[in-house]
Amino acid sequence: MHLSILSKASVAIACLSLGTSGSPLHQPTSFCSPSYPATGWEIRDIFNQFVDEWVYQRNFSDSAAKYLSPNLIQHNPQIANGSEAMVAAVGPILANYDGPNFSLVVVDEEKGLAVTLNRYVGKPGTGLPIAGVADFYRFDGTCIVEHWDVIESLPPNSTNPDPF
Ligand SMILES: *[C@@H]1O[C@H](CO)[C@@H](O)[C@H](O)[C@H]1NC(C)=O
Ligand SMILES: *[C@@H]1O[C@H](CO)[C@@H](O)[C@H](O)[C@H]1NC(C)=O
Ligand SMILES: *[C@@H]1O[C@H](CO)[C@@H](O)[C@H](O)[C@H]1NC(C)=O
Ligand SMILES: *[C@@H]1O[C@H](CO)[C@@H](O)[C@H](O)[C@H]1NC(C)=O
Repeated sequence: MHLSILSKASVAIACLSLGTSGSPLHQPTSFCSPSYPATGWEIRDIFNQFVDEWVYQRNFSDSAAKYLSPNLIQHNPQIANGSEAMVAAVGPILANYDGPNFSLVVVDEEKGLAVTLNRYVGKPGTGLPIAGVADFYRFDGTCIVEHWDVIESLPPNSTNPDPF
């Protein structure tokens, strides 16, 4: 098993990185329609690109078609299966928050699993609490096919004032 832990800065750098073969990552219109078998370094590069487009560029609708299976298996209880439902849910949520900021990105490319831990801060006037969100993604080949998340709001008078 090969685990990599990337900081926000190294995610940005990794987006520009070349694969071990020395060639840039092949850039199809979609990594899901169709997906194809992926090497470990391809999974890592694809995930880093997804993180960059999805979170930093906030390119949800375009990048969803590129990275998420149309039949995405969804484990968030408030979102239906499918990439369209994910986009419909995530866009408005993120519109109310500053961030997210990635505090941790872990990719286990051999198992095709990737995890991010994020810090969200409600925009002024929304009354939304600071929250920590762990997102888990499973790849099948080049395509993200399954998503889980765990969300924890910062409680009032928390013992640890800034745990995320
Ligand atoms: C959004 O994503 C699409 C598809 O990947 C890409 O063609 C487009 O350039 C992206 N736009 C921005 C602003 O990043
Ligand atoms: C979502 O997809 C999974 C896997 O196919 C399935 O087991 C589950 O029943 C689906 N959920 C809904 C609400 O259709
Ligand atoms: C994200 O990080 C930047 C730079 O460190 C910081 O200015 C900003 O407040 C952070 N935002 C959130 C939501 O944590
Ligand atoms: C937080 O602590 C203060 C001081 O002990 C207390 O007055 C207040 O009720 C607490 N707030 C909550 C939401 O627990």
